[in-house]
Amino acid sequence: MGGYFDMHCHIIPEVDDGSDLLEESLAILDMEVRAGVTDIILTPHFRREMFEADRDFVEAQYNLLQEAAAKEFPGLHLYLGCEYHSNHDMHEMLRTDPRYRMLGTNYVLLEFSQAHSGSYIREQTYSLISRGFRPIIAHCERYRPISSNIKLAEELVDMGAELQINADSVIGRDGWGIKRFCRKLMKLGLLSYIGSDAHNMVDRRCHMGECIDYVEKKMGREYADLIMRRNPQNIVDLSKKQ
Ligand SMILES: [Fe+2]
Repeated sequence: MGGYFDMHCHIIPEVDDGSDLLEESLAILDMEVRAGVTDIILTPHFRREMFEADRDFVEAQYNLLQEAAAKEFPGLHLYLGCEYHSNHDMHEMLRTDPRYRMLGTNYVLLEFSQAHSGSYIREQTYSLISRGFRPIIAHCERYRPISSNIKLAEELVDMGAELQINADSVIGRDGWGIKRFCRKLMKLGLLSYIGSDAHNMVDRRCHMGECIDYVEKKMGREYADLIMRRNPQNIVDLSKKQ
């Protein structure tokens, strides 16, 4: 079918623990294009004391990638977002610098640590919503308090958050339990986005192709279109109205 988005990935060279070289970035983009992806939201990490690349540098590297991609993959659309790791004073940073949000909109791709508790996830998510942000919980299936308790997933969605899962998890590369949880989120209508979370061409590759096939087969094309095209397209549309 094609025309899909990948809305979570680390393909900009040298800005985080994703791609190291422009050549590797282009190789990942090639996998995306072959999978039927036409639009990619690039989401370099921001995480205190771990990934703090200057956003001017991130933008410069993004422009470099965009130039090279335009030559090799005409018709592929790239956008700049961010995966923001939760911290205690995130509100101020997110408020004052739109580059830590998704395409400058009020959507925030919010990451947690494996060690964070359910109550921390709930509180931090709510604190963003109460300030007018729209948190998207990045790879929510990786957090035990959520994957072991679908009620917390429901609660977060009721609160106004949106949930994202990784392509690898959908197709079972992270184990049967996680795959089953992802299927449940889809069946219950709790999911809003799927992203590759691709980092490189070695151990964290892009598996959007297998994922698209799986979602189309198990959930139908209408559903695949909603989760992998219409929902992320809404973020792009909002960014144009800013
Ligand atoms: Fe990520």
